[in-house]
Amino acid sequence: MPRRQLVLAVDVGTTKAAALVAEGRADAELAVLGIAATPVMGVKRGLVVDVERAAQSLRDAVNRAVSMAGVEPTDVVGAVNGEHVRARVASAEVDLGGRAVHDTDIEALVNRAARSAAEPGREVVRVVRGPFRVDGLPTGGSPQGLSVHRLGVEVVVISAESQPLRNLRRTVQLAELRRVRWIPAGLAASYGALSEDERMVGAVLLDVGGGTTQVVVWNGGVPRLMAVVPVGGELVTSDLAVGLGVVAAQAERLKVERGHVVEAPEGTVELRGVTGQAAKTVALREVRDIIAARVDEWLGLLEQALAQITWTKAPAAGVVMTGGGALLRGLERRVEEAWGWPVRLGAPTGLAGLSDLARSPGYSVVVGLAKLALADGMGFRRDTAWTRIAQAWLRTWS
Ligand SMILES: Nc1ncnc2c1ncn2[C@@H]1O[C@H](COP(=O)(O)OP(=O)(O)OP(=O)(O)O)[C@@H](O)[C@H]1O
Ligand SMILES: [Mg+2]
Repeated sequence: MPRRQLVLAVDVGTTKAAALVAEGRADAELAVLGIAATPVMGVKRGLVVDVERAAQSLRDAVNRAVSMAGVEPTDVVGAVNGEHVRARVASAEVDLGGRAVHDTDIEALVNRAARSAAEPGREVVRVVRGPFRVDGLPTGGSPQGLSVHRLGVEVVVISAESQPLRNLRRTVQLAELRRVRWIPAGLAASYGALSEDERMVGAVLLDVGGGTTQVVVWNGGVPRLMAVVPVGGELVTSDLAVGLGVVAAQAERLKVERGHVVEAPEGTVELRGVTGQAAKTVALREVRDIIAARVDEWLGLLEQALAQITWTKAPAAGVVMTGGGALLRGLERRVEEAWGWPVRLGAPTGLAGLSDLARSPGYSVVVGLAKLALADGMGFRRDTAWTRIAQAWLRTWS
């Protein structure tokens, strides 16, 4: 019997820790065996600020997902989030004097390109290979076996600051997870919520979380831009709490049940006052206005991030919004109005098994992590940093 391809994917988000036990299957991309999320304490804007509390939430989520699945995979993959995560394009070229290209040439070239993007205080988390150039001309496929003079490659190097990574490593250690492979959350969300076609023809992915929004611009199957904006659904909730003088839990419920970015139906809503105070009557228009103001600020930050690249044409597949925060009513319409690009809500597809929860937008990251981990192939080895980089791209783009 072939060995089962099992993976445990974990995402310590700002509002929830999510754990997914999944199996790679021939009939579906991914079979969900167990999935759970627990509220998180100790994470701010995607960064772990209280290791022990974050680890407790994570362990709870893992225990629940594992007991649902009846198995705890040894292959573990985790998401790296936070404003410090960035992608840089790098390239390298080598003269092979007209001989045939070996796989070792490709590996060495990709490593050299990746190394040229190294920065002090940062670690490379993932390297994504872009197209090769053979004697100055771009080629779609692998140049292996071709006789070549000059071989060039472009790569996208995704790196993270060492210090927040150490906190994340400590968190998973305390949660009793060993040998975790790390993947940037934005990359994972892109595999959870975008189709391969969308990543190819061009799309903007927005993973709207509680404390962050991941922005990833795809074109030609390569992430051209990756940025993290420190604004998510939590700020909308706290604006409502402060603006209306209610507690956070009430503001959260109001946002989810009656909140809208664009529409303000006539009428009011009754809210319980904070302890000792009388109930309040709030106009739905006021709720809409508070939400819209924060969303407009968020749009401005996203526009700044998107301005980091040169846009020669609009993304053919438009904008795909995922993450729990993308469920805010009217958000798609507001983004569409502001940018003039088509916008759709993205959630994981290609799932079998106990997948109802996994099909909601808040789970794009764990589903994408599991898909990438299974595509990487099983078995985790401790290698030197640079071999790991070479393997990272070999796994991702084969
Ligand atoms: N139906 C809904 N309507 C509006 N907002 C919602 C809805 N469901 C969830 N949210 C919001 O989604 C946010 C959480 O999203 P998600 O679970 O993707 O975040 P996270 O991964 O914990 O955080 P981050 O990615 O920022 O670290 C919360 O702010 C929550 O209020
Ligand atoms: Mg998230």
